[in-house]
Amino acid sequence: MQRPTYALINGEILMENIKEIKKNYPMYEYYIGVVKNDAYHHSVYVVNDLIKGGVNYLAVSSLEEAIKVRKINKNIPILCLEIISLDYLDLIIKNNITITVERLDYLKKLLSYNLEDLIKVHLAVDSGMHRLGFDNKKDLTTAFYLLKEAKHLFLEGIYSHFATSGIADPYYDYQLNKFLELTSNIYLEEIPIVHLGRSITLVGKEKPNFCNGIRLGIVMYGFNQSRKIDYDSLKGKYQLWQIRKKRQKYNCSITHLTNNLKVKPAFALYSAIMSRRKVKVGDLVGYGACYKVKYPGYIYTICLGYADGVDKSFEYVLINSQKCQIVADCMDMLLVFAQIKYEIGTKVEIFGGERSIYDVCQTLNINAYHLFNQISNRVTRVYVNKNKSKEIIG
Ligand SMILES: Cc1ncc(COP(=O)(O)O)c(C=O)c1O
Repeated sequence: MQRPTYALINGEILMENIKEIKKNYPMYEYYIGVVKNDAYHHSVYVVNDLIKGGVNYLAVSSLEEAIKVRKINKNIPILCLEIISLDYLDLIIKNNITITVERLDYLKKLLSYNLEDLIKVHLAVDSGMHRLGFDNKKDLTTAFYLLKEAKHLFLEGIYSHFATSGIADPYYDYQLNKFLELTSNIYLEEIPIVHLGRSITLVGKEKPNFCNGIRLGIVMYGFNQSRKIDYDSLKGKYQLWQIRKKRQKYNCSITHLTNNLKVKPAFALYSAIMSRRKVKVGDLVGYGACYKVKYPGYIYTICLGYADGVDKSFEYVLINSQKCQIVADCMDMLLVFAQIKYEIGTKVEIFGGERSIYDVCQTLNINAYHLFNQISNRVTRVYVNKNKSKEIIG
């Protein structure tokens, strides 16, 4: 790795996170690790750590992602959450990918092929998110019976997705009831995997008795979704007493606002000082001469910019544990001011070590999903595992 900018990904932490989740929530049979977009940008490399921790199914967005994951693990079942074009049936079969079926015309087209191999199918149900899935009972019932008769299609699962947490809103309960209503003419107990929940509902709501699977996303990447942390710290969100009031108003089903899940983020971002120049009061810095130096000191040029997903809105970086203000940004470089003299090559922390991801999210007023995904693929992922060995993925 020539450029000293990298995201340090700790596979050991991810494995421990899964163990911790399963220890605290042992009531599911299927723990489906959502590894979209290279495992929320941690790198596809971590899938084997997640599996070692106890994830026994994976979910991805697209066939491209599924094939990438399949190269890392030959056996784990992989569900594709988006709809795969049937022009790619050969790749679906070759890579043993579980497909999502969400409408009747797609299923009928699939049935019209002369299949020789078995394809696993999960039915998606739109219980209120209005994104994907069957939204009428008649079509869903027809699909269920067509799949029951199909020789080369195996109805392995059925799922839906919650739009809200249900913690302070009536929509979670609405979606739960809508799912039951839409599936009331089929036999859920005949379908091996029923999965509705995601991280926030795992920790915030009770397991619905007809579900035996849970899709784990942000929680396995180290965010326990405890309302105490999220809501009290993020700008513009509700305080705990306001949540309680709303819960009463909407008569929400049992809700857990906090939890003791000890999961940790496994993602840290570092760079280094590439250049240094001495500046005096009044000197102008950066594009548009946007910053006027206020004190004598140094401008440090750091090897990352908005093309890497980091800009001035991060406000500061840490050099030798000292906060240094980002005074200007470019596509590839940040300009940082400090009065202390540091050597060229000194390591710079952006976040994930002494500066927590929560702190960055609060500064940027975004959540961890956005933060991870905005750190671009140009940033090399340095993967660290249990035995302290490093592998560079660039
Ligand atoms: C269908 C589906 N299930 C589960 C997840 C995981 O969500 P979370 O990270 O909130 O657990 C996602 C995330 O994008 C999703 O789209």
